[in-house]
Amino acid sequence: MKEYGHFDDAAREYVITDPATPWPWINYMGTEDFFSLISNTAGGYCFCKDAKFRRILRYRYNGVPMDAGGRYYYINDGGSVWNPGWKPSKAQLDRYECRHGMGYTRITGEKDGLRAEVLCFVPIGSRCEVHRVRLSNIGAAPKRFKLYAFVEWCLWNASTDMENFQRNLSTGEVEVEPDAIYHKTEYRERRNHYAFYGANRPFDGFDTDRETFIGMYNGFEAPQQVLSGTSGDSVAHGWSPVAAERFDVTLAPGASEDIIFVLGYVENPQDAKFIAPGVINKAPARAMMESFATPEQVDAAFKRLRCFWDDLLGRFTLSSDVPELDRTVNIWNQYQCMITFFMSRSASYFESGIGRGMGFRDSNQDLAGIVHLIPERARQRILDIAATQFPDGGCYHQYQPLTKRGNNDIGGGFGDDPLWLIFGTVTYIKETGDFGILDEPVPFDNAPGSEVSLLEHLKISFNHVLDLRGPHGLPLIGRADWNDCLNLNCFSLDPDESFQTTENKTDGSKAESLMIAGLFVAEGRDFAELLRRIGDGYAETVAKAADDMEAAVKAHGWDGEWFLRAYDFYGGKIGSDECAEGKVFIESQGWCTMARIGADEGLCDKALDSVVKHLECEYGIVLNAPAYSSYLMEYGEISSYPEGYKENAGIFCHNNPWVIIGEAMAGRADDAWRHYCKITPAFTKDQQLRKVEPYVFCQMVAGRDAARPGEGKNSWLTGTAAWTWKAVSEAILGIKPQYDGLLIEPCIPERYGNYRIHRRFRDAEYDISIHYTGKRGKFFVPYKPGKQTLEVEI
Ligand code: GLC
Ligand code: GLC
Repeated sequence: MKEYGHFDDAAREYVITDPATPWPWINYMGTEDFFSLISNTAGGYCFCKDAKFRRILRYRYNGVPMDAGGRYYYINDGGSVWNPGWKPSKAQLDRYECRHGMGYTRITGEKDGLRAEVLCFVPIGSRCEVHRVRLSNIGAAPKRFKLYAFVEWCLWNASTDMENFQRNLSTGEVEVEPDAIYHKTEYRERRNHYAFYGANRPFDGFDTDRETFIGMYNGFEAPQQVLSGTSGDSVAHGWSPVAAERFDVTLAPGASEDIIFVLGYVENPQDAKFIAPGVINKAPARAMMESFATPEQVDAAFKRLRCFWDDLLGRFTLSSDVPELDRTVNIWNQYQCMITFFMSRSASYFESGIGRGMGFRDSNQDLAGIVHLIPERARQRILDIAATQFPDGGCYHQYQPLTKRGNNDIGGGFGDDPLWLIFGTVTYIKETGDFGILDEPVPFDNAPGSEVSLLEHLKISFNHVLDLRGPHGLPLIGRADWNDCLNLNCFSLDPDESFQTTENKTDGSKAESLMIAGLFVAEGRDFAELLRRIGDGYAETVAKAADDMEAAVKAHGWDGEWFLRAYDFYGGKIGSDECAEGKVFIESQGWCTMARIGADEGLCDKALDSVVKHLECEYGIVLNAPAYSSYLMEYGEISSYPEGYKENAGIFCHNNPWVIIGEAMAGRADDAWRHYCKITPAFTKDQQLRKVEPYVFCQMVAGRDAARPGEGKNSWLTGTAAWTWKAVSEAILGIKPQYDGLLIEPCIPERYGNYRIHRRFRDAEYDISIHYTGKRGKFFVPYKPGKQTLEVEI
């Protein structure tokens, strides 16, 4: 089977050795508010704070070939033109390697005795990408060649940049200095920010007008100035501003030289925007360039970045007999959790960074993947999310990272949303012990003066769902539940309407959700426990509501062999053996088994058996079966997808861990482990089939009804990251944070039952050796600051 790369665990890198991967294999850079996406051929873009409103580089999502635009370094070596990242010229390289690491990417190309190694990263505390281009003459003869550095600017708003050409073609403005090009479009009026691309030495020529550099009828693969070894010294006025910088380099055999580039973003105070009429204040850009002007400074900044990740990834480490498990747990899963926390669902090669901000439910779930790493930021995120809630507990479905304001761009009124705030908060307090967060004043819909405590928000959230129940006492689904595509009140026949934002027909709706019911029972019990801990009498009301919901599920939500999925608008069953299609669904099996509904009567075991029997396939668990074969207006978007894809019987990886956790809670170690391995990329055998990155989870893998089962799509930004982390760290390896300590309760096949875990927990550091005998015991470690070494046989 063809392989495009391999893991280098010691370096915490994935090493790509063939640039022609089946799809761009990307990485993310940035840890605070400046972020970049970079592919294995140096494609991608960066932005500050908001991928829609503060986009720095232009990127073409729909381009042919894919992944066009990025930070391109071209070499013209005696007429032979090539790129160290292979693209865009695609000149055959003698050697190519791309190492995606934690927050950095290093791409090396070699041709005809010349090596170019480009190290890219976003330094901690800076709003820029640093590119260290190391040129080495590894041949026997002296080399004289030209290096071109190239980026194309986006006119800030990534959406209007693609649409508003009557304006865009006239607005572009730049300033040029001997060693830096500044992009200042719209700075003259309302913007106080600009971008720049500078080098640590003056260039020998430049271009800022795209057509002058590339040529009207050429593509990125053959810029006319690069082909001819010249520069037009062009200054862009409108059209498409770019930054292209030429360096004439001479290297003796064995010699090597670094040129350092800084691609940065600056915001100036309103009263310090200009130093002369029309001339921008470049002092902050200069300062940024000066802080990365020497190889020593770059080394130091890179070291700081590595220490940042070493420290984070040192907080939870595993040493087991399964290398795929170790590399997932120790490196890639936690890394992906950090990235999903930073981006939510906003910026990837699939989410164009335009349509989606920070999802209410998504961001709450993402917390489960990072709270043990960056608890302070988890705290802030919870308060930001809660501040977008309405006084009645309803929620905007997303908020914009730039303003932290909620918006209705992808709808509102999803029946599950409020419960996720309880999930996020409980997760946070169990990890940190910070009950104080409950007293924080938090407004509604960001309106000053409307503040109530976070605890009050949680109560309102719970009651919101409690108050909106249908004829069976089950939660009303609203616009949809976790499954955005189960639109039971939408009834859309107009292809120009969005399933998420079209006015719903809710009057008299009987549409109820068993997924929300399971979530309500699980979160209700967690919430009741939290309330008891703080001595709040409301605990009993909450506990009783959870018990009543459990009874309602048993009475009206059990189909005989599995849990129903929903009742539709008219009160008809969805996810029942009585249905012609969509007889069994994963979400309600996951949530009702995690809530242990009817466990004593054997319902959980039966439901989990049904998952294995009806939903499991070679690559994971599909969402529903049989798939819907035609569009059903009363079910909405779910039936709009072809069979085997996305929410219509795709393997929607996000929900697989719910079953894995349900399996572990039922003590079924082999089933839990098998489900886990199937969706975890480190166990992937066929890279060509999977197509997307072999080091991160993707949102969906095509299900068994699809044309090519096993094909992955929408990698990186998915709740799968946080949920598989929870599944593997808590359910399988059994390290469960509790309010006053760690509960150790593994559920792993006995043959892998000997492993060691190092875990920081608040101010404690535990070294735990586990010998799991398969007997399903548990062991409680009370929280005590300091180091502790434990041997636990369970
Ligand atoms: C997407 C959304 C998430 C939703 C899921 C299922 O991943 O980001 O909020 O739950 O799809 O529809
Ligand atoms: C589509 C997708 C779903 C996503 C939703 C909201 O419905 O299928 O996964 O959650 O859009 O963006």
